[in-house]
Amino acid sequence: MEQTLSIIKPDAVQKNVIGEIISRFEQNGLRIAAMKRIQLSKREAEGFYYVHKDRPFFDSLTTFMTEGPIVVMVLEGEDAIAKNRAIMGATNPENAEPGTIRKDFAESIERNAVHGSDSAESAAFEILFFFAGMEIR
Ligand code: CMP
Repeated sequence: MEQTLSIIKPDAVQKNVIGEIISRFEQNGLRIAAMKRIQLSKREAEGFYYVHKDRPFFDSLTTFMTEGPIVVMVLEGEDAIAKNRAIMGATNPENAEPGTIRKDFAESIERNAVHGSDSAESAAFEILFFFAGMEIR
């Protein structure tokens, strides 16, 4: 069993599609091992996206991530990291396959509805960023 971190971003929370997004994970065999709805500060968003700190979109991305509440989850299942990425679709919704979350709900490459860990290493960092061990069951 593998674990990955998922975020429903402020654009999707504002669209009131938390339930629709979560049901896609469940329908594809992923289990929600932890979940909470929180509001990030700018500093927290910068800490989470630290690997992107030198990218030109860093300031805009971290401001967007603070514009409203987000839902953070630990998803668990066989090949959870790759499976979650397939369910999400490409980062840029213009390139996302039909039926993926980003094709259906994302507005742009930045306001792209969801985040998912891209490797085992980033999943380990990202899960610990948001959750204590005893919150994950
Ligand atoms: P995410 O999967 O959360 O990982 C980094 C985020 O940066 C990405 O989704 C997008 O929201 C954002 N992002 C990536 N590339 C760009 C870009 N070229 N312009 C603006 N935002 C981007």
